[in-house]
Amino acid sequence: MKKLSLFITLLFSVLTLMAQQHQMSKSYIVPDDTLVREKLGQWKNLKFGLFMHWGTYSQWGVVESWSICPEDEGWTQRRGPYGATYNGYVKTYENLQTTFNPTQFNPEKWVKAAKYAGMKYVVFTTKHHDGFCMFDTKQTDYKITSSKTPFSSNPRSNVAKEIFNAFRKENFMIGAYFSKPDWHSENYWWPYFPPKDRNVNYDPAKYPERWQKFKDYTYNQIQELMTGYGKVDILWLDGGWVRPKSTIDNDVDWQKSIPYDQDIDMPKIAAMGRTNQPGLIVVDRTVTGQYENYTTPEQTVPDKPLDHPWESCITMGNSWSYVPGDHYKSADQIISLLVKIVSRGGNLLMNIGPGPDGDWDPVAYDRLKQIGNWMQINGEGIYNSTSIAPYSEGNIYYTKSDKGNTVYAFVLADKDAVTLPGQLQFHLTGIGKAKKVSLLGINHKLKWNNGADGLAVNIPTELQTKNGLSQAAVFKIQY
Ligand code: GLC
Repeated sequence: MKKLSLFITLLFSVLTLMAQQHQMSKSYIVPDDTLVREKLGQWKNLKFGLFMHWGTYSQWGVVESWSICPEDEGWTQRRGPYGATYNGYVKTYENLQTTFNPTQFNPEKWVKAAKYAGMKYVVFTTKHHDGFCMFDTKQTDYKITSSKTPFSSNPRSNVAKEIFNAFRKENFMIGAYFSKPDWHSENYWWPYFPPKDRNVNYDPAKYPERWQKFKDYTYNQIQELMTGYGKVDILWLDGGWVRPKSTIDNDVDWQKSIPYDQDIDMPKIAAMGRTNQPGLIVVDRTVTGQYENYTTPEQTVPDKPLDHPWESCITMGNSWSYVPGDHYKSADQIISLLVKIVSRGGNLLMNIGPGPDGDWDPVAYDRLKQIGNWMQINGEGIYNSTSIAPYSEGNIYYTKSDKGNTVYAFVLADKDAVTLPGQLQFHLTGIGKAKKVSLLGINHKLKWNNGADGLAVNIPTELQTKNGLSQAAVFKIQY
């Protein structure tokens, strides 16, 4: 009996230890470079960024890259008449290079709209998984500046550079999205074998020279981006299956199926990046550790604050890439996402996919305009804020200003116009007595009571409806 209980205790401790280690391996690592920590601190205050997925695929209005991936998933389906055979499809897909001519390209127009909406940083797909480069790389001819691409004759054909310059001029932080996997490279999908899935199609351990060439190619391309494109703040690396085998998390389904070690030498890439771009934030997505300086929940909002820097990337339409007639989220929905995310201490990176002509759907401009109108009044509760308990209650979300004793309470409306009850209870118990309470955008004295369980604010009848407020009413509470 004694033996049994000893055994159980022992087993229990081992299991606990395993669980802890597991947690540890999953946990965030604070970068030891001071400049990186400083930049992360600045980035966290920006709250709202613009993401853009743009490539030759935009001409077909199909999913970015994935239709050439030989996996049978909902998002990898091939389209239309070219879809009959895999090889025929890929050939036609790669030929999209020869018709890509986005003559309406005018990044200043994007900057203006994004700036008005209150966006403060941009992340752009310099290269997606299909390997087509939206920058003037010297490593391949599969690029927008190749003479095969009609747009190459345009003086602004190096679109990544043009986009970065235009946004930087308006003080946006600059982020380069770069796909580690490259489905065009003969050293990733070696033509000797057919591609099998999203992964490298040969065993790097068996063909180390070929893998080395791929590593060099990747390094050289990132070096080009880190040296020839002005100040870059974020290196946003996608394609988390390109990773050392030791980092695979077997609790994550898609990671379990990674067949090979695909170590791309992140220490070397990050060191080079930071030599050229001091303080560079590296986002090696899903590869928990030194090179994932913030995490990137995709199309979701964590339901509570996280203990490390994070950013939800979310599409404004349904798709990352341009799809004609895509259904765009309403301004209410976007503002509500932003408020929820910021109340939990995160950033929102909102994606818009430029079309084949080089411009956005007019609906995207309309949304940014409405968001901007709201931000003009309420942005002070968004930027430079942190989360504060109880974070949210019902449709009320809180943020706390970085400077001074101010808390903001966002009362979200489920439609355009905001209606308010006769009294609102804010269960903010950690802040002491409120000294002043006001409603942003409205010049009207408010009455409130400081109670043991927080604050009760009375809303005068004339402010309950027809108050002229849209999407969310924001109370500023100074204490
Ligand atoms: C998804 C898509 C990928 C896209 C990414 C952006 O993983 O599959 O194509 O680039 O989201 O976060």
